Amino acid sequence: MPKSVLLRHIASLAGILPKGTTRLVGTQMSHFTTITDAYLLIENGLIKAFGPDAECSIERADQILDCTHKMVIPAYCDSHTHIVFAGWREGEFVDRIKGLSYVEIDKRGGGILNSAKKLQSTSEDDLFEQAYGRLQDVIKLGTGAIEVKSGYGLTTDSELKMLRVIRRLKEVSPIPVKSNFLGAHAFPMEFKQNRSGYIDLITNEMIPKLAGEGLADYIDVFCDTGFFSVEETEAILSSGAKYGLKPKIHANELDYSGGIQTGVKYGAISVDHLQCTGPEEINSLAGSNTIATILPSTAFFLGLPYAPARAMIDHNLCVALASDYNPGSSPSGNMSFILSLACVKLKMLPAEALNALTINGAAAMELGESNGSITVSKPANLIISKPNITLEGMPYFYADSWIEAVLINGDVK
Ligand code: NIG
Ligand code: FE
Repeated sequence: MPKSVLLRHIASLAGILPKGTTRLVGTQMSHFTTITDAYLLIENGLIKAFGPDAECSIERADQILDCTHKMVIPAYCDSHTHIVFAGWREGEFVDRIKGLSYVEIDKRGGGILNSAKKLQSTSEDDLFEQAYGRLQDVIKLGTGAIEVKSGYGLTTDSELKMLRVIRRLKEVSPIPVKSNFLGAHAFPMEFKQNRSGYIDLITNEMIPKLAGEGLADYIDVFCDTGFFSVEETEAILSSGAKYGLKPKIHANELDYSGGIQTGVKYGAISVDHLQCTGPEEINSLAGSNTIATILPSTAFFLGLPYAPARAMIDHNLCVALASDYNPGSSPSGNMSFILSLACVKLKMLPAEALNALTINGAAAMELGESNGSITVSKPANLIISKPNITLEGMPYFYADSWIEAVLINGDVK
């Protein structure tokens, strides 16, 4: 690793925030602060200094990158993924093309249960290799911090196996990894008629064991019609709270399920998905610190309505965007596509979407202090554009890569 890297003549250095700004809300999101013709100095993997290039007095560096005509922005912070899984589900994709809905596929034992069956018979080493490959792929696509969920295990052993894989990812990853326990992702077949039995398993066995090993940063529940009810969600979140697990939950993807209000009530860091969000849900979020994380690729891929991002921003919420990378509803972790969807489908402005993908994504992983912006002393996790790309061009080129290089801790990936 070169000790010092100097980026010169950056056409536009964007996503600059003062130290201490850890999230942006409402109209604050419309500014993606920029310096034109800038320099940026990296030392030991951290942003050491930046400013107008004319003021750059640094005479030498181990590596100098000429960024003439190029933009530099912070790397994406992807606060919602399921990258530990045992194979794809393209068969169900074809079933959906033929007319079956996501919920119908789930009822037949497909969907999450299909992934669970495959994962239960896959070794920890194999799962790790697959997930590590996906992690490396998304880093090359610009992701500089990531959250990863369990939830395809659905037995104590397999949930712990997933969480240990996530722990191994943390150990080897050059970017921050947060771990989220999602044992309440779906009811296993054998518990479909004994729902309280599965809630007991989660609260009395899974949570104490995983907490004992320090395996999770957060706790998640798929709180939605056909999955976990508000009462079941409350039982799980209360049990997690006893072990210090803060919630980040799946809410209102399929229905007005009460998931958003439940998340707010339990002090969730974020509630995620939010396709079914009306005035009541927005009011509940407006009086809280809970981040509204929208996952537009799931709406795109499943043909669901999109979350009302404009109303959320108008009500001064903190809105984040994430990929939901998983084999069922979002088989991609490419955050540049999320950026395009946010602008095209959610009617977010490019600056709003970029803030939602960077600093607010970081905030949705409690990493706003340390990631998600161009700020002195944060790690140099950066995206360098190809020449002549503007801020508006980033979402506009929805299917062609405009990224020339990704730096993680100052290293080109
Ligand atoms: O976030 N909504 C619930 N869970 C995942 C989908 C999981 C799957 O289909 O495998 C999601 O979309
Ligand atoms: Fe998800």
